[in-house]
Formats: sequence, C-alpha cells, structure tokens
Amino acid sequence: MKDLSLHLMDIAQNSTHAGAHRVDIVLAAESETRMLVLTVKDDGKGMDAEFLARVTDPFTTTRTTRKVGLGIPLLKLAAELSGGSLEIDSEPGKGTFLRTGFRLDSIDRIPVGDIPGTIAALMTAWTDIEWTLCLQSAKDRYEITTAEIKEVLDGVSIGNPAIAGWLAESIEEAMTNVFGGILDEIAEGS
Ligand SMILES: Nc1ncnc2c1ncn2[C@@H]1O[C@H](COP(=O)(O)OP(=O)(O)OP(=O)(O)O)[C@@H](O)[C@H]1O
Ligand SMILES: [Mg+2]
Repeated sequence: MKDLSLHLMDIAQNSTHAGAHRVDIVLAAESETRMLVLTVKDDGKGMDAEFLARVTDPFTTTRTTRKVGLGIPLLKLAAELSGGSLEIDSEPGKGTFLRTGFRLDSIDRIPVGDIPGTIAALMTAWTDIEWTLCLQSAKDRYEITTAEIKEVLDGVSIGNPAIAGWLAESIEEAMTNVFGGILDEIAEGS
C-alpha cells in the first residue's frame, strides 16, 4: 500500500512531465467535513476531455488506443476506499487541477507518510519550477514558496544538498503546528 506522500510524488511528477512552470500544492484538514484534502494545480500542457476520462477511469473505458498509467487510478481508488474521491479539471495548453479527499476518521485512510521529505525533494530537484506549498486546518495555516526561499538564499542554488534537509525540517515543524495529531493513523478498533 502506498502512503499519501508517495502518491503526491507521482502526481507532482505528472506536473513536471507536463512541462509546468508553476505547481501549487495544498494539504488541508477540513474540520466541518472531516476530510483531508490534497490539491495539486499546475500550468503544464493539460489534457483534453477524452484523454482525461480514460486517465481517471482506465478500468471502465473500452478504448485502448493510448497507453495510460496507473498513478491517478490508484490514488483515486485509495481515496474512494476511505469514503473520499478524486476529481481532475484540465484544459489543453492551460494546466491541470487535481483534487483528492480522504475521510479523516476512516480506518481505511492511507497513512500520510513523509510529506515534508517529499515536498523538499520536489522543490530542490526541479529547481526551475515555482513551487508553492500550503498547509491548512481550523487551527493554523502555513505557506512556503520556492520564490521566497530563493530570495533568502541570495544566489545559493535551492538544489544545494544542504537545503533539502533544512526545508524538510521546516515543513515537518509546520505540519505539527497546523495539524497536531489529526493526521495520525486511525488504529483499528479505536
Ligand atoms: N498534470 C498533468 N498534466 C498533463 N498530463 C497529465 C497530468 N497528469 C497526468 N497526465 C497524463 O495522464 C497520464 C496518466 O497519468 P498517471 O499518473 O495515471 O500515469 P503515468 O504517469 O502515465 O504512469 P505512472 O503509473 O508511472 O504514474 C500521464 O501519462 C499523462 O499523459
Ligand atoms: Mg504518473
């Protein structure tokens, strides 16, 4: 079973492969709906409606003229098993917006995994992309952008090996402030 951070790595890599210049990632715990919502928005090459239909539902489509992967379908399945969902909006030449929700209290919710390490790896590996991360809950909100990091670094490359560790630690701390323990795994029988 893949955790959410591994799925996020897949989805964000789809954005990098689509030639995105900007990728905005939001992870939000919604207190009213008790949902954990992950959104990834890019300005890459996008997909047309016919292709998009097959990307989200490769098992129900009858057309097999184009090969599609399983990254998105497996994330959709994981979301649905927790009582959540996955939706994508995309426009050729404009970009793609993916939203997936997981029921916070479901024992079938996949673990979040190493979100800080994943984000730090993305931000320091694809240095030409402007990344934004936003963490949100009823308690607090945190935002970090590679634009502001690059400004602070004042010429030092964001791809410098020392940066990833520092970045992951900063995001880890923010995760604790914003989410506290609400993303911890639900133990069966609890
Ligand atoms: N953000 C995006 N922008 C443009 N095209 C996308 C985007 N995300 C996915 N796609 C298209 O949908 C296809 C399927 O994506 P998916 O992640 O499900 O599988 P994959 O990336 O092809 O393979 P893998 O199983 O390794 O993830 C991609 O190959 C790509 O053509
Ligand atoms: Mg993929």
